[in-house]
Amino acid sequence: MENFVYEYPTKVYFGKGAARQHLANILPAYGPNVLLAYGGGSIKKNGVYDEIAGILKENGKTVTEFTGIMSNPTWEKVREGAKLARENKIDLVLAVGGGSVMDCCKVVCAQAVTDEDLWEVEMVRHGIPAGKPIPLGAVVTASGTGAEMNGGAVITNESAKIKGGMFAAAPRFAILDPDYTMTLPRMQVLSGAFDTLSHAMETYFGRSDRDNVSDEVALAIMRSTVVNMRTLLRDINDDTARSNLMWTSAMAENGILKVGRRTDFECHQIEHQLGAYTDCNHGQGLAVLHPVYYRHIVKDAPEKFARMGQAVFGVDGAVAAVEALAAFIKECGLPTKLSQLRSRTEITPELLRQVADSTNLLPNGYQQFTHDEIYEILMECI
Ligand code: NZQ
Ligand code: ZN
Repeated sequence: MENFVYEYPTKVYFGKGAARQHLANILPAYGPNVLLAYGGGSIKKNGVYDEIAGILKENGKTVTEFTGIMSNPTWEKVREGAKLARENKIDLVLAVGGGSVMDCCKVVCAQAVTDEDLWEVEMVRHGIPAGKPIPLGAVVTASGTGAEMNGGAVITNESAKIKGGMFAAAPRFAILDPDYTMTLPRMQVLSGAFDTLSHAMETYFGRSDRDNVSDEVALAIMRSTVVNMRTLLRDINDDTARSNLMWTSAMAENGILKVGRRTDFECHQIEHQLGAYTDCNHGQGLAVLHPVYYRHIVKDAPEKFARMGQAVFGVDGAVAAVEALAAFIKECGLPTKLSQLRSRTEITPELLRQVADSTNLLPNGYQQFTHDEIYEILMECI
């Protein structure tokens, strides 16, 4: 094990009816003014808005709405939310949605309490935000990212063409009711679950010198994610599988798998920049990239890949592990080529050159990639 410090910032309320059961008891700890934040309107159609807004009202809260948070949230949207939070003297931000709503709100909470521009502070000067963020609570309606249990946020600066990770407010509490996810489109359910699988894999395939207990936990999370995704291929509404995936999602990104080890996450870095240029869906972008990326590093960590192949897919050998992953992605109907991604612009070699050149190069993978090699990987995904 590497040295580590571990602390859980978030109290989790999991299960059917969790908001009805717990939210009223949570709210008195916070002041009267609540920023109710959500995305493009799915919560208005499926009843989640009515339930949450109703509980806020019954408990005497004054609600300001912050709406229209888009997938791949932008820095402009963060600024809009921070302005609303300041003007309305917000005591609690309640993020109701998936990773995009939660991420946007994490930074809103930190940006609202400072006059400094946090993009400039964090992403340009690599500093740490000053001030105590407004408290944040999360009500999860789309699982996969695990954003509900960490203080990281992925924000797109459209003018700089950077989609980057920022550190901001971790939710003080998170409500995880699998029923709130049941109206998700099938493809979002599967791409979200693939994101979870990717988080466990990117943690496990980080270059760590010694075997450690976190690897065992990561393999269990990968196996459980694959098993439950396969159940969903038979019945997308399977209750148990949806519940299990909601918790594997949180487990993969609450830091527990990273305890005592280094991580890779280069594939995430590539996907984030692909997202900055194309606005593609996060989990789908990862599905295209992963097998190609792993074909590049499999020879550098054959035992690690073979162990994963045996534990997760029941196959022997390192190369077989990567090919089993590629076959699983196909089995799920997830995209396998860049051309299958939703993109706001045509994906050309010139665009991929820009994606490659702006991708962060991380130090803890089995290979230290150059921008040219990232470009090769992207070109192999066409
Ligand atoms: O906006 P609405 O109308 O709510 O629709 C959303 C959105 O279109 C819809 N949706 C959410 N809950 C629903 C629903 N539709 C029907 N019924 C429901 N119950 O789902 C669509 C996708 O939502 P989004 O939040 O964008 O998806 P996801 O949870 O996959 O989040 C993706 C974002 O999280 C970042 C990604 O980069 C991306 O920006 N990530 C955040 C991480 C973190 N903070 O730890 C880690 C991840 O690696 C990831 O980078
Ligand atoms: Zn992810």
